[in-house]
Amino acid sequence: MQKTIFMDDGPAFKLGLFGYLHDGGVTMTKVAERWPGRWNDIAAMATYADEAGLDFLLPYARWKGMPGEIPQRTHSFETITHAAALTGLTKRIGVFATVHTSIIHPAIAAKMIMTVDQASQGRAGLNIVCGWNQDDFDMFGIEQLPHDERYAHGREWFEIWSRLTSGTDAPFDYEGKHFHGIKHAFSQPGSIQRPWPLVISAAYSPAGRNFAIETSDYLLTVMEDVEAGRKELAALASQAEATGRTEPLKPIAVCYVVCRETRAEAEAFHRYYAEENADNVGVDYWLQGRQTKAMLPEALYKLRSRIAGGNTNFPLIGTPQDIADQLIELQQAGFAGAGIGFLNYLTDVPVFVEKVVPLLKKAGLRG
Ligand SMILES: Cc1cc2nc3c(=O)[nH]c(=O)nc-3n(C[C@H](O)[C@H](O)[C@H](O)COP(=O)(O)O)c2cc1C
Repeated sequence: MQKTIFMDDGPAFKLGLFGYLHDGGVTMTKVAERWPGRWNDIAAMATYADEAGLDFLLPYARWKGMPGEIPQRTHSFETITHAAALTGLTKRIGVFATVHTSIIHPAIAAKMIMTVDQASQGRAGLNIVCGWNQDDFDMFGIEQLPHDERYAHGREWFEIWSRLTSGTDAPFDYEGKHFHGIKHAFSQPGSIQRPWPLVISAAYSPAGRNFAIETSDYLLTVMEDVEAGRKELAALASQAEATGRTEPLKPIAVCYVVCRETRAEAEAFHRYYAEENADNVGVDYWLQGRQTKAMLPEALYKLRSRIAGGNTNFPLIGTPQDIADQLIELQQAGFAGAGIGFLNYLTDVPVFVEKVVPLLKKAGLRG
């Protein structure tokens, strides 16, 4: 079957907005300029991004808030219904739903995402998440499976989801370790994208990467710096090759942007929101259970500022030319695109579109 997914065509280097579906967005800061994440803000951001020619919108899935000096991520929306709403407001941009496999049944996710794909003429994407934050799962009375078992569960989930989303000719039964007793599963129509909508995932562990290789078109990748990113991509490519996968698993760099006329201004603004006004209770919560005792104070300080600045994503801080240069470097390192967070999408995305994107066009990354 010919594969058609919405990011197949278009610019050589894809650009999308990331992490906007709750207050605070990708940041952990107390400044007044932080992202409020109210629906009207999100709708205005999406229509702007659509008209500006960006390629995708990709939210984190958070079900409730997290501890902070101020409320953090307490105001959040559900991701599949958000995709339905935003594709209704836009004309060409792709919209992802970020789905927790342990919470949403694959048959429901299949029917819902197929509906969004049909209604939007093929613009729905699935970001598949097999686990992470037990605090969120407690709300559903769900205890996470042991780490690697989450991916075994996820694989069964994906098998059911993909068969149903693509449209079944005849009903099927399913008997797995985690999903069993499924009888006469059937779904018509299939999605517009073939064989099913674009799938993206994110993981670092070998089990998580194998899962991505088996299921996904794109992999979200967070890296320390471009050189580390380059090494990761080489490791990923050989892991994919060893499994016999023939198509590349395309990596998307997860970044955040602080763009100002001068580098000094951009760095000062980052210091202001991510260091002087970091939400340290939120940053501590983020670091819970992570091995930080052996870290040198300087490295720990840098990590904390990256958490507060952009959820540890790759910082792009500087002038429009600095930011364009780094995105060009990422493309040269093998990244297929970038998912970008901002302190405030309504004020900051237009600056990025007007000042950075033309430089990327000039460099041949965007059509
Ligand atoms: C860029 C990125 C985005 C993620 N988004 C979410 C999310 O929205 N919700 C969630 O529960 N987990 C999210 N995760 C967590 C991953 O799905 C995964 O559980 C985590 O990376 C640990 O996987 P691993 O132990 O296999 O490396 C995200 C991870 C990354 C790197």
